[in-house]
Amino acid sequence: MDYLQIEGPTKLNGSVEIAGAKNASLPLIAMTLLADNKVCINNIPNVVDIKTLVKLLGNLGATVNIDQSSVQIDTRSLSNTKATYDIVKTMRASILVLGPLLARFGHCEVSLPGGCAIGQRPIDLHLKALEQMGAEITIEAGYVLAKAKDGLKGAHIVFDKITVTGTANIVMAAALAKGKTIITNAALEPEVVQLCEVLKNSGVSIDGIGSSELTIYGTDRRLVHIDPFDVIPDRIEAGTYLCAAAITNSEVTITNVCADHLESIISKLEQMGFSFDITSDTITIKPAKSIKSVDIVTQEYPGFPTDMQAQFLTLCTQAKGVSIIEERLFENRFMHVSELQRLGADIKLKGNSATVVGKIDLVGADVMATDLRASSALVLAALAAKGTTNVHRIYHLDRGYVELEKKLQKLGAKIKRLKEQA
Ligand code: EPU
Repeated sequence: MDYLQIEGPTKLNGSVEIAGAKNASLPLIAMTLLADNKVCINNIPNVVDIKTLVKLLGNLGATVNIDQSSVQIDTRSLSNTKATYDIVKTMRASILVLGPLLARFGHCEVSLPGGCAIGQRPIDLHLKALEQMGAEITIEAGYVLAKAKDGLKGAHIVFDKITVTGTANIVMAAALAKGKTIITNAALEPEVVQLCEVLKNSGVSIDGIGSSELTIYGTDRRLVHIDPFDVIPDRIEAGTYLCAAAITNSEVTITNVCADHLESIISKLEQMGFSFDITSDTITIKPAKSIKSVDIVTQEYPGFPTDMQAQFLTLCTQAKGVSIIEERLFENRFMHVSELQRLGADIKLKGNSATVVGKIDLVGADVMATDLRASSALVLAALAAKGTTNVHRIYHLDRGYVELEKKLQKLGAKIKRLKEQA
């Protein structure tokens, strides 16, 4: 197992290129189950979660070629419709194959994802929506068994709660269903928008893209032809590098980025005293005269993303004053707090709210990554902490960040990847 060793505090400078979005790539890879051709997807991030989903499609019988940042997937001769526990347990997003497999084959078995470090993360809304579309669903021996002998039928789905992968699953199912599906309270995340746009460009009629009500006109199980396309830039990776610049109060430019997707993140950084130069595909963050405290409430897009909560909470340890951070999406997404406390952070947790008092001079220590975003937050803390910080269990980090240590090295950080002693 690897760990990261970081010497701090440090200043950063220079530029860093942002990879394609993990959370856009995952549904887009699942979407290839709807295609009547070999699909080429460019600007794929080279991270473990992508490899996991690609492996799952391979196990189902798809032919997959993947190189650095592009993947070709051919699902035409696929006939296995069982997504097994050994893969699904390692990545919850595997549930994204449920909608397209069921829509295309009229039956499938997908392992229930099980628990997760950041919360319960049920899939009841995915299942309820598919039932409304005519699926018969049972849970047996840890598997979701879904059947729709005569195919899925369009329905009016009203999500009780906004769900990102739930919306993506139903959009894909609806694309091959019979008739019209309306999704009310759909997720607005750019990753969902891109999925809809790619399907629309492939001939699936979809109205309301980018709004909370989507109308999808199904093709009645006729597969769709999907032309090559590029995945949108990763707004969470981009936000993480902005936080790396902010916590070291440095000037850094991020490239291959879409600033429109980062409005809530940039706005919080502005409130904290940072300024920006923004072009069509770059963002330069400039140091603050003094870093101010800020209050944050996580929300669905376009609100402040839960996937940036850990990084901002860490940044707030370096802001003068009291910051209050409220987590509204996941009930257990504060596992990083006790690790940050090991570095000396002054953070009090009460329910779903964290009170951070700054500025605190952090001191390096050994810490343990608990989930993907918490891992990057610990690396940020280490950049600001005095002395050596070892961040352990970084397999979480490798699930979603492309070569984080190499990108940070290029910006001037003293960071290296080492092997744990046996
Ligand atoms: N929820 C239900 N029932 C469901 C589905 C969701 O109660 O059937 C609840 C969840 O428990 C949660 C809320 O609804 O409280 C929102 O969950 P959502 O379904 O939107 O999350 P997700 O689709 O499982 C995606 C991202 C996460 C990101 C969340 C929120 C992907 C692959 N994952 O998860 O990304 O945190 O949306 O924005 O897109 C990450 O990249 O580190 C990550 C965790």
